[in-house]
Amino acid sequence: MSKVTVIGSGNVGTAVATVAAKGGAHVQILGRDHEKASALASQVGGTAGAVGDPITGDIVVLAVPYTALAELAESYGAQFDGKVLVDVTNPVDGATFDGLTVPADSSAAAELQALVPGAKVLKAFNTNFAGTLASGQVGDVPTTVLVAGDDADAKQALVDVVKAGGVEAAAIGSLKRARELEAFAFLQMTLAVQEVVGWGGGFALRK
Ligand SMILES: NC(=O)c1ccc[n+]([C@@H]2O[C@H](COP(=O)([O-])OP(=O)(O)OC[C@H]3O[C@@H](n4cnc5c(N)ncnc54)[C@H](OP(=O)(O)O)[C@@H]3O)[C@@H](O)[C@H]2O)c1
Repeated sequence: MSKVTVIGSGNVGTAVATVAAKGGAHVQILGRDHEKASALASQVGGTAGAVGDPITGDIVVLAVPYTALAELAESYGAQFDGKVLVDVTNPVDGATFDGLTVPADSSAAAELQALVPGAKVLKAFNTNFAGTLASGQVGDVPTTVLVAGDDADAKQALVDVVKAGGVEAAAIGSLKRARELEAFAFLQMTLAVQEVVGWGGGFALRK
């Protein structure tokens, strides 16, 4: 059985935990708000704890804002070594909503990998509006989770967990592609904010 830890119990944490549990994974939810973490854990049949508690998952999904990544890297440190560490964040400049806060030749995921070199960092879920992950549909097209990373086995492990939960997933390249995934997700957000697409719509992959 796959073991997945989700840190964060907001929109994305809830959607990821639900998909993982549906696929039969054991899910651990770690949150700052004990009530929210416990409620989500009981909803998905998993276990709950506080941020800072020991991690039980082999796959760890950081379903938190970009600004929390450095803090978690600092507090968990070597506990992330060997883990498949999934970055879902979109480091959008909240002040201007006119670009990303990471340098043009980097990404939030690359920054995270530099902070925790012993972890197998993946970029995933950031191009999926949470509602489309929960519903499995982008408009009338099945949702696909795009997964970037440098470790092939890590990518496959996450793809397997997502597919087992009934959502399409594809390994799309090395961690360098996180930059494109973050830019692409930002573009998609601007379209939703302008109401060109709904939050249940957006870009989808058709084979
Ligand atoms: N919403 C989407 O459709 C979507 C889609 C793709 C990617 N994303 C990305 O996914 C991430 C989460 O988005 P969301 O919509 O799920 O946000 P959200 O609903 O606000 O949830 C964020 C979660 O992160 C926790 N958190 C915040 N700061 C933290 C810290 N310093 N340490 C530990 N936990 C912390 C929050 O805990 P509290 O409840 O205690 O505040 C909450 O559980 C963001 O990076 C966002 O860019 C979002």
